[in-house]
Order: sequence, then structure tokens, then C-alpha cells
Amino acid sequence: MPLDLHSASGILPRGGSILGTSRTNPFKHEGGPEKMMANAEKAGIEAVVVIGGDDTLSVAHKMGEFGLKCVGVPKTIDNDLSGTDYTFGFNTAVSIATEALDRLHTTAETHRRVMILEVMGRYTGWIALEAGIAGGADVILVPEKPFDVDEVCDYIRQRHERGRNFSIVVVAEGAKPKGGEEIVYSESIDEFGHIRLGGVGYYLGKEIEKRLGVETRVVVLGHIQRGGSPTAFDRILATRFGIAAIDLVHEGKFGHMVAIKGNRIVSVPLKDVVGKRKTVDLELYEIAKVFFG
Ligand code: F6P
Repeated sequence: MPLDLHSASGILPRGGSILGTSRTNPFKHEGGPEKMMANAEKAGIEAVVVIGGDDTLSVAHKMGEFGLKCVGVPKTIDNDLSGTDYTFGFNTAVSIATEALDRLHTTAETHRRVMILEVMGRYTGWIALEAGIAGGADVILVPEKPFDVDEVCDYIRQRHERGRNFSIVVVAEGAKPKGGEEIVYSESIDEFGHIRLGGVGYYLGKEIEKRLGVETRVVVLGHIQRGGSPTAFDRILATRFGIAAIDLVHEGKFGHMVAIKGNRIVSVPLKDVVGKRKTVDLELYEIAKVFFG
């Protein structure tokens, strides 16, 4: 599909990909990279702007070794890509999860329940942490800090003893109990070796109800947090990244990714970014813990 001005017009408020591309790994297919090179040549593609998270950008980095001229643009709701303060999509996901927490407060308060919101975040808890702070969650559980079910229950019990007879918990799908494993939804593994997670919210909900006898409900936010119209922040960031990516192509600075540091758009070599995970800001986690730790 030729990406001319006409085809890219009007996409600013849209999520997803107008090209219909999805995360596939050419290195998992016999002759995959060679086929990509041949297709690029046939289509007259001189440079590729690769938009995605660590998996996608690792492919861009490796394809560079095959001679494909790539520049990277950081995009994932998980915000776990190193080399950049923010990836686009993250702010939108945090906004959606925050709104969900606001709405869950209604039932939590009215029915005096524990409400658990499970959000995405396989290896890092950026969405859980930021949405949890913004949405005033009483407990925030992230993959970086394995949790103790007894501690979570003690904290909820103390709240109840103080007269706060409801609690809101936000948990990242990759959070795991101390000494335990992540809760797996399905053993099937994708082309990048990731297992499908999901269910930690239900695990926790059952434990809380069993140990405290407090009615507990669970909501799994799922792909709602990854869809729909992006926030103004993400639209501006994506626009700035897009312009910077085209500048990199014109400068011939391939094998680099655009990034935001502070409020400045910069570029970083893909080799310094891929395979490294940006885990949650522990200072921010400590701020959150003031309210629940
Ligand atoms: O990589 C982004 C992400 O949102 C993860 O947080 C999540 O585990 C995964 O995608 C789920 O993706 P899907 O269900 O579409 O495979």
C-alpha cells in the first residue's frame, strides 16, 4: 500500500495500524529475512520505518544485518522499551485504566466490596503503577515486586478496621506471588516465545474472599486498554516521533530509534535498546506505596 499523503490523512485519532501489520517474527520462518529483502527490493522500498516494541525493534535491528535500512519508532502500551522515557500508546492505556478504576470505585463503595482490576503488563508494571496512582488504587501489584497474599489481605483488613469498608486493587497480568509463578492463561507460545498470561486477578480475588470473607469482584481490562482513540499526549508524541523518524531516514541514520528524553526528541542506536527491558521507576513505586504500604 503506497503510504502517500492521501492514505495517511485522517489517521491521527485512530488506534491500530492502517496497514494491518501485526507482530510476526521473520526469523522463525525458513528463509524469512531473505524473503523480506527480496520483497523490499521488488516494491522499491529504500528504507523502513519500524514501529513497535522490543520484539518488533529487535527484528528491525537484525534485519539491518541483512542490509534492510531501518529506523525505529517506540510504540507499545507497556512502556517497557529502554532508551526512551515514553513509548506511544502507553498514555492512552493509562488513561483508560484510570477511568476503569474511577468507575469501579462506584461499586466498591456502594457494595462495600474489594474490586480488582487486572491490566496488561507482562514483564513490567508501568500501566498498573501509573493508573493505580492516578485512580487512587489501594493496592498496586507489579511484576517487578512479587507480592505476598497475606500482606495484601492484612492491608485490606487494616483499611476495613479504619472504617474504609471497600478496597481497590490494580494488578498487572505478570505480577506473581512471592516464590510462585505468573498465572498463565494458555501454554501456547507466540513467535517471540511469550506465553499468554492472564488470571492473576481471579487468583487474588479468590484468596482475598477466602481469607477475609469480603465480597470481591474481578475485572480484566484486556484489549479495551489497547484500543480506540489515542490521548492528546500520544497523538503529539507519535507526531513528533514520526517527523523525527523521517529526519533520520533523510540523514541516513539507519539502525537508530527515535526516543523522548525529558521533553526532547533524540535518537538512540537500536543495538543499545533491544533486549533490555525498562522496568518500573522504583521511586514512583515508593510514592505509590506511601498510600498502601
Ligand atoms: O505487548 C503488549 C501487550 O499489550 C502485553 O502487555 C500483553 O501481554 C500482550 O500485548 C497481549 O497481546 P495479545 O493478547 O494481543 O497477544
